[in-house]
Amino acid sequence: MSPNKTFYITTPIYYPSDHLHIGHAYTTVAADAIARFKRLTGYEVWFLTGSDEHGQKIERVALAKGQKPQTYVDNIVQSFQHLWARLAISNNDFIRTSEERHKKVARALFQKLYEQGDIFKAKYQGWYCSPCETFWTEGRLREGKCPDCERPVELLQEESYFFRMSKYAEALLKHIETHPEFILPLSRRNEMVNFIKSGLEDLCVSRTTFSWGITVPFDPKHVIYVWVDALVNYLSALGYGGEDAGLFRKFWPPDVHLVGKDIVRFHAVIWPAILMAAGLPLPKQILGHGWLLLEGGKMSKSKGNIIDPLLLIDKYGVDAVRYYLLSELPPGSDIYYSEEALVNRINKDLANDLGNLVSRVLGMVEKYNMSILKRPLPPDDREKADQELITLAEKTPLLVEELMEKREIANALSVIWRLISRANKYVDETAPWALKKDAAKIKRLNTVLYNLTETIRFIGVLISPFLAETPARIWEQLGIKERPELYSWASLAWGRLPVELQVHRGAAIFPRIEEVK
Ligand code: MSP
Repeated sequence: MSPNKTFYITTPIYYPSDHLHIGHAYTTVAADAIARFKRLTGYEVWFLTGSDEHGQKIERVALAKGQKPQTYVDNIVQSFQHLWARLAISNNDFIRTSEERHKKVARALFQKLYEQGDIFKAKYQGWYCSPCETFWTEGRLREGKCPDCERPVELLQEESYFFRMSKYAEALLKHIETHPEFILPLSRRNEMVNFIKSGLEDLCVSRTTFSWGITVPFDPKHVIYVWVDALVNYLSALGYGGEDAGLFRKFWPPDVHLVGKDIVRFHAVIWPAILMAAGLPLPKQILGHGWLLLEGGKMSKSKGNIIDPLLLIDKYGVDAVRYYLLSELPPGSDIYYSEEALVNRINKDLANDLGNLVSRVLGMVEKYNMSILKRPLPPDDREKADQELITLAEKTPLLVEELMEKREIANALSVIWRLISRANKYVDETAPWALKKDAAKIKRLNTVLYNLTETIRFIGVLISPFLAETPARIWEQLGIKERPELYSWASLAWGRLPVELQVHRGAAIFPRIEEVK
């Protein structure tokens, strides 16, 4: 593995208009799984998340609480960082759009595009959706309302700055057509192609109706449109255009912008057009995921149906919450959240399948006084069940790599759980407790327990991009905690498990949940 393979992945930067809920947690946990997977397989990864702090909505929320916007966001952004720490998110940086390092880059880019004629001033009349902070032309409205949020719009006339987006429509379409992985999944890609083909208008990129934002450097009556301000975070966090642009040189362009389906358009149309105008390479992929819904629709504070991820972590543990999110949400579709589904996942996949395997096998190793495992039989003495288990164990890392390359996280987990099921079946087939009763079968017993313990080591490595705490508990029980060379991705070659191992069964890694409280 060459040391200079790099990988840059981002989440959207979240609005601090409220506390984050389980839907937001999904986006960040999924990005974290991809980031951890890439690190494990030898990439130097830069994983960025952050907060999108400007705009009228935030200004209003702060005002309603009688706070200055900066004081208000400082406070709430801390709660974001706390949530990410509790979810064991491995981000390398956290960018806030109210930071000077960000504002500098946003202003410079705006200035550059203005100077080269890609941003111009014009009188404008349009339908404005204030919650979305977006102008729409008459033709784009849906039944006279905002096509994004379906709320009423108001007719506004103002002098604004515009970005010449129409100029880039053709180049953008060509880019999408020649880069099949640029927008995933396919359904989102088709949507974007249709959107561009229906005609790209120039984009209004400044506002004068409020002041909580980054001022236009050459016309301070205007603030930069919050979406342009926000998108620039992906550049500003790498120090683009500054004296210390080492990160930018190393990591640009992004490998993945992971975003929810509602904001694919901003990332797959507006952002690439801005980057083209700036003469910068485009992100390699915009990955748009589905939504976590509740009976009755979207989660929202006004409906009072917000699911707080912190409460779930307190109740079920961080890995249960991570596993639920990652295994339930298939690419491209929405799912309904329910606590029953979460508890089912814990009981079935984590407690019954994974937890039982670890405790059954390591319990036998310990009880039969075989903590010091012997070398297994040479390959030509393998029985059919041995061969099946070993073949599957050897194949699984490759399958996981393939699926993760396609960003199919839930499918990658299913493949790992197939190995877990195979190992459980192997326990039943080989019945080590019966072998133990027959002194003549001691060698066979040793082989069976070696194969199972080695499979558990494989599983521990395979789950480590997805679960944050469980792998270390497995290394502890296997007695390899101090030996990371035995749980690297490169160690996934059958038979690396040393024979002098000191195994200790610990507490159950996932106790069953008896009922949903
Ligand atoms: N600030 C913008 C993003 C700017 S990125 C340059 C924004 N913020 S947000 O806080 O409203 O949403 C952030 C992300 O959370 C989006 O990707 C959105 O799709 C995601 N989700 C919000 N609710 C969600 C669910 N219920 N389910 C899954 N994802 C959800 O948009």
